[in-house]
Amino acid sequence: MRRACQFNAEVLDHVRPHIKEGITTGEIDQIIHEYTVRHGHTPACLGYPGEKDPFPNSCCTSVNEVICHGIPDNYALKSGDIVNVDLTTVVDGWYGDQSETFLIGEVSEEARQVTQCAFDSLYLAIKAIEPDCPVSRIGTVIVQEAAKYGFGVVDKYVGHGIGRHFHQRPNIPHVPTREGQRQKLSPGMCFTIEPMINQGTADASPTESDGWTVRTADRKLSAQFEHTILMTETGPEILTTTGLGPSAGHKF
Ligand code: MF3
Ligand code: CO
Ligand code: CO
Repeated sequence: MRRACQFNAEVLDHVRPHIKEGITTGEIDQIIHEYTVRHGHTPACLGYPGEKDPFPNSCCTSVNEVICHGIPDNYALKSGDIVNVDLTTVVDGWYGDQSETFLIGEVSEEARQVTQCAFDSLYLAIKAIEPDCPVSRIGTVIVQEAAKYGFGVVDKYVGHGIGRHFHQRPNIPHVPTREGQRQKLSPGMCFTIEPMINQGTADASPTESDGWTVRTADRKLSAQFEHTILMTETGPEILTTTGLGPSAGHKF
């Protein structure tokens, strides 16, 4: 898991400088695909089975009001957009999964705030967990942070256990739940935390006709960050980092 997550973080490091005004989401996907394959690894999103069609690309690109699972296409990013790039790699059968939201050019104060809130929520959740604590500690701190801004926390999509499969038990909800109070985070477990924070309502529209894209019900902005975490005997370890990306305390 350390090797898979480390490689996934390197892919994100490789594409990060390209995520600027004018690049298309399809070009971001191409860069990720080529780097992954060139190193002998497999993009987990490509062909991943869905409700309708398999996912057609090697990453998800979710722009502005898209909550998650946006499909890369010929849309060119413009100043004022926010875009989440979510990528997952399979390395020798093990999965590493992470995402970041990027601010393109000059963005509105609301866009900056929803991005900051999603970022801080992730790091506050990581700081709040300890060996054998309940999963619900994650949702508790995320909802608390979002409430400071009056933002909504998406409950329809959750983090997940991860390892030899992309999505495993347990579910990692970003709001406190009954199941999350019972489920514990034990040493040796790997899981993702991936809060989706909405500027307005937490509600999502039904999945679009492409079988994947999920938009906010009110079409206001949504931002997300994700890491794969290992719970060790002494506390959480972020696996999906090389130290080059934004880290705890970063200000957007
Ligand atoms: N990477 C997403 C997650 O965090 C899942 C994307 S599935 C895909 O769980 F098929 F849309 F790529
Ligand atoms: Co995930
Ligand atoms: Co992901």
